[in-house]
Amino acid sequence: KSILVLHGPNLNLLGRREPEVYGSMTLEEINENLLNLAKKSGIELVAFQSNMEGELIDRIQQAMDDDVDFIIINPAAYTHTSIALRDALAATGLPFIEVHLSNIFSRESFRKESYFSDLALGVISGLGAKGYELALKYALTAR
Ligand code: DQA
Repeated sequence: KSILVLHGPNLNLLGRREPEVYGSMTLEEINENLLNLAKKSGIELVAFQSNMEGELIDRIQQAMDDDVDFIIINPAAYTHTSIALRDALAATGLPFIEVHLSNIFSRESFRKESYFSDLALGVISGLGAKGYELALKYALTAR
């Protein structure tokens, strides 16, 4: 059994992308932290980032054949646009937590809509990189 962490477009730029909005931690640092936490619990964790919708969809579909039993996803801008990513997650039937570094409800109005939140087990938004950690802690205990 393993946990899949998915990061959407532009999250590869974390650390130097609007740090006042998204924080100063790099994606590598965030993933490293998650890998360490999972390792301590003896759980396998795989993290994947892509700027391409299709690649994220392929990775989600792959989770159906792999031994993935929980997904943590920050769909980034696809949160507000991608029915295809939503459908892929629904197809897996796997529980997932939606994470956003920023508080999407305190920003532009187009960020308030998510194609994922109603399917998600839970949503964490606005707690920065800590949000991923909290999602993982939940996944580790509640799976
Ligand atoms: C984001 C919020 C989205 O609105 C935005 O497009 C992102 C990142 C966040 O983590 O706060 O790229 O998902």
